[in-house]
Amino acid sequence: MIRELEIAKKDLQRKGFLDLPVDSRLDLFDEIERLKKEKNAIVLAHYYQEPDIQDVADYIGDSLGLSQQAAKTDADIIVFAGVHFMAETAKILSPQKKVLLPDLKAGCSLADSAPPELFRKFKEKHPDHLVISYINCSAGIKALSDIICTSSNAEKIIESVPKDQPIIFAPDRNLGAYLAKKTGRNMLLWNGACMVHEIFSLEKITRLKIRHPKAKILAHPECEAAVLEIADYVGSTTGILNFSKKDDAKEYIVVTETGILHQMQKENPGKTFIPAPPNNACACNDCPHMKLNTLEKLYLCMEYETPEITMNEQLRIAAKKPIERMLEISAQAGL
Ligand code: 13P
Ligand code: SF4
Repeated sequence: MIRELEIAKKDLQRKGFLDLPVDSRLDLFDEIERLKKEKNAIVLAHYYQEPDIQDVADYIGDSLGLSQQAAKTDADIIVFAGVHFMAETAKILSPQKKVLLPDLKAGCSLADSAPPELFRKFKEKHPDHLVISYINCSAGIKALSDIICTSSNAEKIIESVPKDQPIIFAPDRNLGAYLAKKTGRNMLLWNGACMVHEIFSLEKITRLKIRHPKAKILAHPECEAAVLEIADYVGSTTGILNFSKKDDAKEYIVVTETGILHQMQKENPGKTFIPAPPNNACACNDCPHMKLNTLEKLYLCMEYETPEITMNEQLRIAAKKPIERMLEISAQAGL
């Protein structure tokens, strides 16, 4: 096993995870609980993770909730069951802690749509603009931003900026357009998008609605404007979940990544949740990045404390400022 481990560690960068066999007789739920206690580790999971991972997590949340947890935890190890930019945010906020990500290749198409060097040039062309960036971006983009936002606090963040202040919003053009409409602000948008939320078909959602006329449509603001226009509620994953708990409808069409349905069903056993279909026959409403994490990879990364998120200290300090600004504004707004 020692030799296998050495080979797996050497291969880690190429593969993104520790490719080791897991004994099939192990109860991974028990093993993960044991490792949490032994190592004073906390497992933070995003709602788009597979159900088993959500069930073993200490905290499940949206991007804002996850960054608030990462900033305040007193655990020695943060195990991030999410994508790279989320684990990176945890490291930026808690540099003294070990931050583990089960699969380093769990990236994000939206974050990838904004390469820092191109964004720097774009920003230089508009020196009078304040940069508000959605948290779904790399540390390099965060370091070039004035304030970070998430889908649950973006409106409040924009409203905290004086009305005459020109704004660049990056990297999601759909969220940016939605916010521009909501706040009445004319923002300069970076042309990025999420591969999962862009693929929902307005035509198929409309047909579903005809078959389920009483179903309410709940959509994430990363979706295109035409989809958002027919939604009964638009919000972050936490917002969508909370809406389904408080609202009195019995059926919902859910226009976001399918992972959120696990908690929606758990919290509302008497209600029906229908995942909105993508525009072809693929399972594209599953985020391929989020779904790279598995319970086996989670167990292995906790057992061997790798792959770990590391970061250049200068970059970390520059990226921390706009995240802290976001956390301050969110706290003032009671979020
Ligand atoms: P929230 O959970 O913050 O709504 O973000 C959704 C998302 O796409 C994360 O990658
Ligand atoms: Fe990125 Fe979209 Fe996946 Fe979220 S759902 S991690 S925005 S690719």
